[in-house]
Amino acid sequence: MQTTDTQFITTVERHFLEGKRHNPHATSEFSWLLSGITLATKIIASQIQRAGLLEIVGEAGRVNVQGEEVQKLDEIANNTLIRCLGYRGNVGLLVSEEDDEPHVLSDQPDSGKYIVLFDPLDGSSNINANVNIGTIFSIMERDPNCTSPDMKARVLQPGYRQVAAGYVVYGSSTVLAYTSGHGVNMFTLDPSIGAFVLAQENIRMPAEGKIYSVNEANSRQFPEGYQQYLDWAKTEEAGYSSRYIGSLVADFHRTLIRGGVFLYPPTHKSPNGKLRLLYEANPLAFVAEQAGGMASDGRQRIMDKQPVQMHERTPLILGSKAEVEKVLSFLPPAGAAH
Ligand code: AHG
Ligand code: MN
Ligand code: MN
Repeated sequence: MQTTDTQFITTVERHFLEGKRHNPHATSEFSWLLSGITLATKIIASQIQRAGLLEIVGEAGRVNVQGEEVQKLDEIANNTLIRCLGYRGNVGLLVSEEDDEPHVLSDQPDSGKYIVLFDPLDGSSNINANVNIGTIFSIMERDPNCTSPDMKARVLQPGYRQVAAGYVVYGSSTVLAYTSGHGVNMFTLDPSIGAFVLAQENIRMPAEGKIYSVNEANSRQFPEGYQQYLDWAKTEEAGYSSRYIGSLVADFHRTLIRGGVFLYPPTHKSPNGKLRLLYEANPLAFVAEQAGGMASDGRQRIMDKQPVQMHERTPLILGSKAEVEKVLSFLPPAGAAH
């Protein structure tokens, strides 16, 4: 009998469950959680594809905990993720860039095993320019030793405690990249069947790449070492190109595929950097490291940072190992006064 193509496609759910043999987290309950995220991002993708037609572009008329104007699509993405993850049964806490407090779904030790942290829509300023935007997610387990009644305390875990992380970039195609600690796998949404289909397994970030990605308009505000790095990178012999989309998830996706380094250094306006540790830097640092790359805040490994606040920001140097190390070579050694 002629087999149909569908018997050869590997969906993200099938790929994940087949990963059982080397991944203790590849349980059906975790797969059920992951399918909550993929369902949400498929709904978000469908909204974004029709944004201009659905009157959902523009501001929602409120400012979020970050002090930023919330876009209508930020809210739609946020509510979609909360709804799709809300009844997965094994999720205890949800942390969103858009909400000051965690959403408590269950604080029973036996049910709320997982904490999901997310930036529901990254690159919001690009929505009405039809530039790539994305969703970033991080999954941790509840720390059994943390019995604090303060739910915020339960989410303040360093990035090395992530059990999975990834992102979806909504562009010419909708692409999901995620890791559960055993390499990075990439899936493309096939709209004809509504499934994320395996596109590439065990992706490796190029060891180096002559591309730096930074908002040059801030460069005079950067600490001296970053400015010296950029002066070097702009020399003819260094031979770098500059690429900056302004959506972290899109700038990172390019870096994962083509190599290079993304930087968001401290500025006068954001002395601790602009990007958030728990749901932007940590998840992308996990993906980067699992693909052979590196992520630093200029002094230490991003995933070693002990968070102090849920929405805390961090400087971020993220990309090919040799390129991140090149930037660090211009900065004062860890521990020295910056
Ligand atoms: P978000 O839309 O989730 O607030 O994130 C925006 C971030 C990130 O996507 C991007 O790298 C950065 O803002 C761009 O900041 P600048 O415009 O200051 O360069
Ligand atoms: Mn963001
Ligand atoms: Mn966002």
